[in-house]
Amino acid sequence: MKGGLITFILILAFASPHSCVGLNPKTKDTFNVMDYGAVGDGKSDDSQAISKAWNDACGAVTPGTATLVFPQGKTFYLKPMDFQGPCKSKYINIQIQGNILAPTKAAWGSKDRYIGFLYINGLSIYGGGAINGQGSSWWKECTGSCQRPTLMCIHNCHDVTVNGLRNIDSPRNHMSIYLCNGVRISDLHIQAPGESPGTDGINIALSANVNIESSSIASGDDCISMINGTSFVNISGIACGPGHGISIGSLGSSTSSSDTVREVHVRNCSFTGTENGVRIKTFQDRVGYVGKVTFEELTMIAPHNPIIIDQHYFSKVKETGAVAVNVSDITFRGIHGTCADEKAIELNCNKKFGCQNLILDNINLTSSVPGKKTIASCFNAHGVATSVIPSNPCLQK
Ligand SMILES: *[C@@H]1O[C@H](CO)[C@@H](O)[C@H](O)[C@H]1NC(C)=O
Ligand SMILES: *[C@@H]1O[C@H](CO)[C@@H](O)[C@H](O)[C@H]1NC(C)=O
Ligand SMILES: *[C@@H]1O[C@H](CO)[C@@H](O)[C@H](O)[C@H]1NC(C)=O
Ligand SMILES: *[C@@H]1O[C@H](CO)[C@@H](O)[C@H](O)[C@H]1NC(C)=O
Ligand SMILES: *[C@@H]1O[C@H](CO)[C@@H](O)[C@H](O)[C@H]1NC(C)=O
Repeated sequence: MKGGLITFILILAFASPHSCVGLNPKTKDTFNVMDYGAVGDGKSDDSQAISKAWNDACGAVTPGTATLVFPQGKTFYLKPMDFQGPCKSKYINIQIQGNILAPTKAAWGSKDRYIGFLYINGLSIYGGGAINGQGSSWWKECTGSCQRPTLMCIHNCHDVTVNGLRNIDSPRNHMSIYLCNGVRISDLHIQAPGESPGTDGINIALSANVNIESSSIASGDDCISMINGTSFVNISGIACGPGHGISIGSLGSSTSSSDTVREVHVRNCSFTGTENGVRIKTFQDRVGYVGKVTFEELTMIAPHNPIIIDQHYFSKVKETGAVAVNVSDITFRGIHGTCADEKAIELNCNKKFGCQNLILDNINLTSSVPGKKTIASCFNAHGVATSVIPSNPCLQK
């Protein structure tokens, strides 16, 4: 009886596969750029093929995930391009196993970013491949008012994962996260020379719920910077250096509209030969708020300024104290290692109400120069210090 039923089903299945109206034909969900005519020799222009493959992937009606594939062992020469949503399927994968190579400055055109991922929800980028911005063709020639492009922009996207990617030699910033909610970044490796100008690692603005972990960032500017409208960010397991360290700011671009960064947690990161370790920088006589920030379990390997709050960033005139950016509830805990300069801790707060509720706990920063001492320096910094070297920290109640 049972055997008879199975035989019956098998006959049904094999008898008329094409006339079986009850089942959908398998929907295509993988879009390999090679199938669209990409060459992948690092010289032929693969832009059209990649654009076509993306349009099909983004337009695919699949019940699951549409995947755009850049296969391994190939280098795709791609002109500046936006991968723009919204897409039809709920999830979009971009599997970058091969390399993507940008044009040099001479062949660039006018775009202000290299690759834009825009208005895509459920986006996942992975594969371990590299995006190379050929920044050295810009760094020397393009200075002053010359605008250099950002390598990779993730703008207006929700629920984004980047896991396994290398970003190399951006003309300017490597990755910009803007107007996003829900971003998880891991195993990202950013690499540009320490002398390359303005090549930030990751910039975050107007975004919330961002988690960055287990990554390395070597660049010529900030490792990670967070500016206006950034909240609920966790950063852990990042090796920074060379570069300028992890920064909140600059904040306070206006005297009327408030800049805000809050709920930022930086843990288990190292800073090797960087300009700064962890820094908060705000302009004087501006409005804004930086609060509920923790920097903990950090290893400093001879940065110049391991711990720094600078509320007089780029200020040439005297502070009036009419308004100020409110910096409060900032914790520095478990920070160890060495410092290349004498000033290991600098807390240079605003004149109006100072920084409030700073906590310095379990800090030991010695000089990287044998026999030299380190010092702490404060202006209007309020809070509590326990077990801190350099000792005699200058916090007020
Ligand atoms: C950040 O870490 C906290 C504490 O571990 C956790 O509750 C929160 O969900 C994390 N946020 C993100 C965006 O990963
Ligand atoms: C700290 O980060 C390193 C590098 O990513 C990682 O290997 C290690 O497991 C992390 N440790 C903790 C306690 O999270
Ligand atoms: C900061 O972002 C907020 C939105 O969160 C906006 O209202 C404000 O204008 C921005 N500040 C500046 C100075 O642009
Ligand atoms: C700074 O902001 C915190 C949190 O909102 C608030 O409690 C505190 O009163 C503010 N400080 C000043 C001087 O406005
Ligand atoms: C601080 O670090 C230095 C250098 O590693 C070490 O010699 C010293 O014992 C440490 N001090 C404390 C109180 O842990």
